[in-house]
Amino acid sequence: MSSKILIIGAGGQIGSELTYKLRQMYGEENVIATDINRNNSDLVNSGTFKTLDAKDYEGVKKCVEMYNIDTVYLMAAMLSATGEKFPEEAWNLNMDSLFHVLNLAKDKIIKKIFWPSSIAVFGPTTPTEYTPQYTTMEPTTVYGITKQVGERWCEYYFNKYNVDVRSIRYPGIISWKTMPGGGTTDYAVEIYHEAVKTKQYKCFLKEDTELPMMFMDDAIKATINIMMARAKDIKIRSSYNMAAISFTPKEVAESIKKHIPEFEINYAPDYRQDIANSWPKSINDSYARQDWKWKHSFLLEDITEEMLFQLGKKYSTILKTSQ
Ligand code: SER
Repeated sequence: MSSKILIIGAGGQIGSELTYKLRQMYGEENVIATDINRNNSDLVNSGTFKTLDAKDYEGVKKCVEMYNIDTVYLMAAMLSATGEKFPEEAWNLNMDSLFHVLNLAKDKIIKKIFWPSSIAVFGPTTPTEYTPQYTTMEPTTVYGITKQVGERWCEYYFNKYNVDVRSIRYPGIISWKTMPGGGTTDYAVEIYHEAVKTKQYKCFLKEDTELPMMFMDDAIKATINIMMARAKDIKIRSSYNMAAISFTPKEVAESIKKHIPEFEINYAPDYRQDIANSWPKSINDSYARQDWKWKHSFLLEDITEEMLFQLGKKYSTILKTSQ
């Protein structure tokens, strides 16, 4: 069955790579990338791209109708760190955009939705080790609150209106193509860029702050797999715990030093430390592994190798073209 796909927030860290992958799978003409801005020039110049504000219901609806869309990936969101600076904007963006797509599905204008949740749904009262799917959830960030409430609405729309919405609680995602923006786990991407560019990094989290993380290729694989699974196998309609690895800034630094021995890290924790402290250290994702056969591939050493290799190429090209 052919699918016409709309990606909202396609310019972001995950949205951009998802767009490239979906274009490969379904054909360029069947994947419409949209974002509120045109900043991601690689993405904007590589296929169909439209400017779209995820908060604008009429705009989203028009786009869906114009391209005969049946599946929406809603990747637009304000993440944890930026959300603490702009709480009301974070609430409005994260909730309005979700209601828009849920309502389009309720009205049978679209058929299927992917909406990402996050480890930010958990809070300081949640057990931090091997955090279970069903547990105490008292998020303390605006971002976490929007994701937790969003999960409840997804399940509600599934139960009441039979809306086929699927969701994963992403951990911190590590990638080299598009920079993340405004998250607490972003240090785990910045550190590789700085290692390649300057051989030093000032980390905004303490050295022993352990958080759940995942390489982008695994995150994309999971996203595609949950969307391709049979509806009856998706037994959780709030959002699935999903994990790959967990590590601390010190452990990433050590793995980088194996390749760049002169790399130096120092620590200057800021307001993001409190956010990180409120999140789990590791996640129990047995339901995802059972229901739709989730399995990660990349370990920390694999990620470090790939990040240093890809960023090494990227920065030497930039250097060459600027000479
Ligand atoms: N990467 C996100 C953040 O740090 C967590 O989902 O905000």
